Amino acid sequence: MRTEHIILAIETSCDETAAAVFTTADGLRSHIFFSQTALHQSYGGVVPEIASRSHIEKIRPVIDSALTEAKIRLQDVTAVAITNRPGLPGSLLTGLCFGKSLAYAINARIIGIDHLEGHAFSSFLEHTPPFPHLCLTASGGHTALYRIDDYGIWSVLGRTQDDAAGEAFDKTAKLLDLPYPGGPVLEKLAASVGFVDFYRYPRTKNLGYDFSFSGLKTAILYDLIERGGYDSATKRCTLPADSPIKAEIASSLHCAVADIFEQRIERALVEQPDLKAVTFVGGVACNQYLKNRLRAFVEKRGRSLYSPSPLFCTDNAAMIAFVGHYKAQQNKFDDFTLDIGR
Ligand code: KG4
Ligand code: ZN
Repeated sequence: MRTEHIILAIETSCDETAAAVFTTADGLRSHIFFSQTALHQSYGGVVPEIASRSHIEKIRPVIDSALTEAKIRLQDVTAVAITNRPGLPGSLLTGLCFGKSLAYAINARIIGIDHLEGHAFSSFLEHTPPFPHLCLTASGGHTALYRIDDYGIWSVLGRTQDDAAGEAFDKTAKLLDLPYPGGPVLEKLAASVGFVDFYRYPRTKNLGYDFSFSGLKTAILYDLIERGGYDSATKRCTLPADSPIKAEIASSLHCAVADIFEQRIERALVEQPDLKAVTFVGGVACNQYLKNRLRAFVEKRGRSLYSPSPLFCTDNAAMIAFVGHYKAQQNKFDDFTLDIGR
């Protein structure tokens, strides 16, 4: 039986404070986020203590805005869906404690959501990929390949053994003295030289469905040193800001990452021919070049590629609300002993 639900979702696993409202009747009614990027930028990465403090400051106004925009009264919410794993412990705790308190006060149910399940189903916010399908999640903290059989039924085929794909972009940007997050700025640079594979960095092979990106970062570092563009003593890039080498490295990185993604997708589609489609999600899926490459690759193999708009690729509460809603429909609630997990 289909039960009517009004879900309030809270996402605070890393550096976005986000809330969303999703109802059985209307689907997604609102989603609001506050991005902490500017707070962490000068450190070249996310600082956990700064992240927790900012979540505490922003969580209340962000939730208020989500409810107001959705035209939903807090007391009408039937379940609060809260990202409780994986993520920065201090950040997760802020969302979980706040969400539990809210739910307790209004007598609503709670549902702990795996952030990665959120990403894995994020393409459903705008599309309806057929089951079973393959999902490539590539973000700043995670890179994994999933087989998705139904709502909430998914298994890990492979994951990164070291850095995430987004980290390859962020760390390369840092080596080149470019701002965090690295993805968008490197994509712009690479586009300026046409996404040509200038330096042919090594691709990791023979890992089955697993990924590895730390070798790529090291190869880029050694290449940069060889080209006289990096001072190992001061750990600083010595290239002038407008050096063409920066764009050529960015371009070569794009080609290597695309090849690595394609190898894994190819293997999955050959070994599991019942996979009907492929989804590409997570912050790295904002990358138009990678999206276009993967779309052409997947379509050549007789499947469609589904990928969310950039707003739903990066961390957001809409994807948490979507998962929270189907879990509520499946009667999969948690009790108030719910804690953060790994
Ligand atoms: O999903 P997300 O917001 O956070 C995590 O859960 O990690 O992803 C952030 C990551 C960062 O590493 C960022 O550099 C990357 O997504 N990213 C991109 C692009 N936009 C964001 N990577 C490549 N190209 C982009 N255009
Ligand atoms: Zn994420």
